[in-house]
Amino acid sequence: MKIIVTGGAGFLGTQLIYKLLHRADHGVAPLTFDSITAVDLVESPIEDPRVTSMVGDLSDPAFTAAIVDEETVAIYHLAAVLSGGSAENFDLAMSVNIDGTRNLLEAARGLRRAPRFIFTSSLAVFGGKMPELVAPDFATQPDSTYGATKAIGEILVNEYSRKGFIDGRICRLPTISVRPGAPNSAASSFASGIIREPLNGVESVCPVPHATPMWLSSPRTVVTNLVHALELSSEHLDNWRGLNLPGITVTVGEMLAALERVAGPDTRSLVRDELSQPIMEIVCSWPGAFNVESTLALGFTQDQNFDEVIRQYQEDYLTPTA
Ligand SMILES: NC(=O)c1ccc[n+]([C@@H]2O[C@H](COP(=O)([O-])OP(=O)(O)OC[C@H]3O[C@@H](n4cnc5c(N)ncnc54)[C@H](O)[C@@H]3O)[C@@H](O)[C@H]2O)c1
Repeated sequence: MKIIVTGGAGFLGTQLIYKLLHRADHGVAPLTFDSITAVDLVESPIEDPRVTSMVGDLSDPAFTAAIVDEETVAIYHLAAVLSGGSAENFDLAMSVNIDGTRNLLEAARGLRRAPRFIFTSSLAVFGGKMPELVAPDFATQPDSTYGATKAIGEILVNEYSRKGFIDGRICRLPTISVRPGAPNSAASSFASGIIREPLNGVESVCPVPHATPMWLSSPRTVVTNLVHALELSSEHLDNWRGLNLPGITVTVGEMLAALERVAGPDTRSLVRDELSQPIMEIVCSWPGAFNVESTLALGFTQDQNFDEVIRQYQEDYLTPTA
């Protein structure tokens, strides 16, 4: 029994695999598995006898077919070209985010037993004129290449699910903050950078107005919710498999105020404003608040407040100095 995690060497993929292993170690995983295959362009950093790396490009159908076999009970499809990368390279976004997703779905379709298939989508599927509070069935109208490829991926996952080829779960993740490590190509990278860099004593730039509302989730909460998406029985799901995962609404100004409360004014002063038109065009088109009553009722969870999210980052990623 194996679980495949594409993008398994990436940030969320790595955290997710650690969480799945941890749950198995503590006997709390209802879906049993013997192994996890981390599929990525690079090797997984995880050293555990249950984790195997398969290095290759999902846009190559031969490679994608080779990773799926009858042992596969579930597939997490996280590999993607993110928002900044998709804006820079249209062809790459099309081939990885659309062709790669289709390749994987086709490979899964060949299995005797339909695997659970968890697809990480994004609020970048939304755009145009947005309501203040986005309803669970609000139509997608992407304003970016990344959002368009994710919206197409959602429809593919839903259709393969409707046909019974897979048991799909589409998780539209909030923007993740505070993400550890280096900035990435995502247009929302600043949502972590304006907190993470100052906490590490480094200057950071805020590229959007302080009034910009962000729909955020901590890494811990997102990973918990991705595990829940795997374990949730399909009898609780509608025919449309899209789920807006819970987040919290925080303006950029409130994020900086939380940083000052948690880490002090000197740390806050390391962030300076420098508006960026390309980032504003992408991020300011994203909605800032969702009605997630139905996903909370399914057992998905949300963070309590942004001060707590910053403290989580300090606990998980900052080495105590004293
Ligand atoms: N981090 C966020 O705030 C956020 C928000 C919404 C949605 N998501 C989605 O969550 C998923 C994971 O995001 P992440 O933050 O871990 O990103 P990440 O960039 O850390 O991980 C993505 C991984 O995909 C791999 N990859 C890219 N192209 C590939 C290819 N052709 N074949 C195989 N592997 C390939 C990359 O090497 C990388 O390791 C993505 O689908 C992303 O769109 C993330």
